[in-house]
Amino acid sequence: MRHRSIGIFDSGVGGLTVFKEIASLLPGENLIYLGDTARVPYGTKSVETVCRYALEAAEFLVDQGVKLLVVACNTASAVALPQLRERFQLPVIGVIEPGAKRAAKSLNRRIGVIGTEGTINSNRYPEAIHALLPDAKIFSAPCPLFVPLAEEGWAEHEVAKLAAKEYLQPLLTAQIDTLVLGCTHYPLLRNTLQTILGDTVDMVDSAEETAKAVQNLFQQQGLANPECGGQRTFFVTDVPTRFERVGRAFLRNNLGRVEQVQIG
Ligand code: DGL
Repeated sequence: MRHRSIGIFDSGVGGLTVFKEIASLLPGENLIYLGDTARVPYGTKSVETVCRYALEAAEFLVDQGVKLLVVACNTASAVALPQLRERFQLPVIGVIEPGAKRAAKSLNRRIGVIGTEGTINSNRYPEAIHALLPDAKIFSAPCPLFVPLAEEGWAEHEVAKLAAKEYLQPLLTAQIDTLVLGCTHYPLLRNTLQTILGDTVDMVDSAEETAKAVQNLFQQQGLANPECGGQRTFFVTDVPTRFERVGRAFLRNNLGRVEQVQIG
């Protein structure tokens, strides 16, 4: 079991932020990434559709014989995690619980959460934070423009600053001391968001927290295999061209071979 790969899936290229953190924390593990680029975005779709897509993506990775499933997509983690855990025998880690755990360290207990419409409408981050910090005040805001801005390479562009000012104004007024970056793409906008909110606001990067959760789980369950060779394999459900180009910017590295597959 230890010798198997870690399977990571996302709606598209954004989950590479989670992939990157896992690769840097556990460099010896073999990683298989699936980006469902034919059906991206998940963030604007119904719960039923996202659940169906997530089950199909997970099934593909389980068929590759992975030892752990990481749901890098916040939207899929928000709505599909119980179904995935019920359907598959292997451990499944999403990005919501690790991010919520870190957010619950807030000192003033006023916490902002940003994400896609699907993630914010699901209310999963507030539920997970309240389970740990019942009297926390949560201020949520969907920020749909951040996804295309990050993919365009405009995370620090004036346009991103203007959009961020608009989206974050209510959170600034609410005097949050912690902001959960509840979407795969948002770590790329971290500097822009920090400039608007100020240095005192703690940014919770769900990708970083998820990588730590994977490491902890491996330690607890004896699943780690630091000497696997660190192979990286990428699959997408649409032609790979755009994924390769945008993915290079997300990873700050070449991806190597990306193979197109059909799922579902
Ligand atoms: N990966 C999605 C998330 O983290 C963002 C992109 C999409 O809407 O599919 O919620």
